[in-house]
Amino acid sequence: MLGIYFSGTGNTKFCVEKFLEAYGSSEGAFSIEEKEALHEIERRDELVIGYPVQYSSIPKIVRDYVAAHPAVWKGKRVFVIATMGLFSGDAFSHASLFSSV
Ligand SMILES: Cc1cc2nc3c(=O)[nH]c(=O)nc-3n(C[C@H](O)[C@H](O)[C@H](O)COP(=O)(O)O)c2cc1C
Repeated sequence: MLGIYFSGTGNTKFCVEKFLEAYGSSEGAFSIEEKEALHEIERRDELVIGYPVQYSSIPKIVRDYVAAHPAVWKGKRVFVIATMGLFSGDAFSHASLFSSV
């Protein structure tokens, strides 16, 4: 399983890396801001994707990234981790966008 994340201050990166360790995965984690990330996603069938809740929603940068590369998500198993401070709002339901692209 490959890790993919967007993380402003590092909380989400930490959680994705902890999840991979607990899952027993030997794969690393890439930020969506790294240019190799897309190529790494293409090569895997199973992903964990982490993002922080921002303004009770999925961050725009993550939404745009998913929508900009619709082909790479097709047929994959995607486990989503959303980190938050207090109130998740609609941020987790918006994760369904991974299955709608
Ligand atoms: C611009 C901004 C908006 C945020 N909005 C929310 C929110 O609506 N609800 C919430 O519970 N936490 C909110 N948070 C807190 C983050 O989701 C939380 O601190 C998260 O763990 C940060 O992860 P990161 O270190 O990977 O960026 C917000 C943080 C930022 C910077």
